[in-house]
Amino acid sequence: MKKINRESSVNTVNAASAEIMMAIGRKIATLTEPGMVIALRGGLGAGKTTLVKGVAEGLGVKSEITSPSFTIIKEYNDGRLPLYHMDLYRIDNFEELYMIGFEELIYGSGLSIIEWSENGQELLPEKRVDILITILDDGSRNVDIKGLDFEHSGI
Ligand SMILES: Nc1ncnc2c1ncn2[C@@H]1O[C@H](COP(=O)(O)OP(=O)(O)OP(=O)(O)O)[C@@H](O)[C@H]1O
Ligand SMILES: [Mg+2]
Repeated sequence: MKKINRESSVNTVNAASAEIMMAIGRKIATLTEPGMVIALRGGLGAGKTTLVKGVAEGLGVKSEITSPSFTIIKEYNDGRLPLYHMDLYRIDNFEELYMIGFEELIYGSGLSIIEWSENGQELLPEKRVDILITILDDGSRNVDIKGLDFEHSGI
C-alpha cells in the first residue's frame, strides 16, 4: 500500500545492538539538512547518546561524542553540518533554557539533536523529527522515527 502522507508516518526500526543503533544514526545523518531539529525521547540508558554518536559519525564529525548531561549543550563544527548535541535531563525550568541559548541554537542553521527533549517540549519547533527509543524485553531497542523519510532498507 502506498503511503499518502509520508511526513506524518512513523518508521520503526529494531536495533539489537549498540552497533546497529550507530548504523541507524549514520543513516539518519544522510537525511539531515541545515536547521533540522531532532527531538529524542526514551528512558534512562535507552540508547539516545549512542544514536547521536552514529549521526555524528555520519556527518563526518571526528571529535569524540560524550554525553552532555552536565554541560547541557555540546557543539561540533567539524562535520558536514554544525551539530548541536543537547541533553535536557537536568533542566527543570525554561529560564535555564533561555540562559543557555537553547532557542538560538534550535532555530539556527545547524543540526540540533536533543536528549530528554520532553523537558523543553514547549520550545520545540513544530517542524521537527521525533524519535522515540523503547527498550524491549529482549534488550533490543525499537526506534520510532517520525517526520523523516526513513526506510528500513540498508540497516
Ligand atoms: N540497540 C541497543 N541494544 C543494546 N544496547 C544498546 C543499544 N543501544 C545502546 N545500547 C547500550 O545502552 C547503554 C546506554 O546507552 P546510551 O548512553 O546511548 O543511552 P542514553 O539513552 O543516552 O542514556 P541517558 O538516559 O543516560 O542519556 C550503552 O551501554 C549502550 O552501548
Ligand atoms: Mg545520553
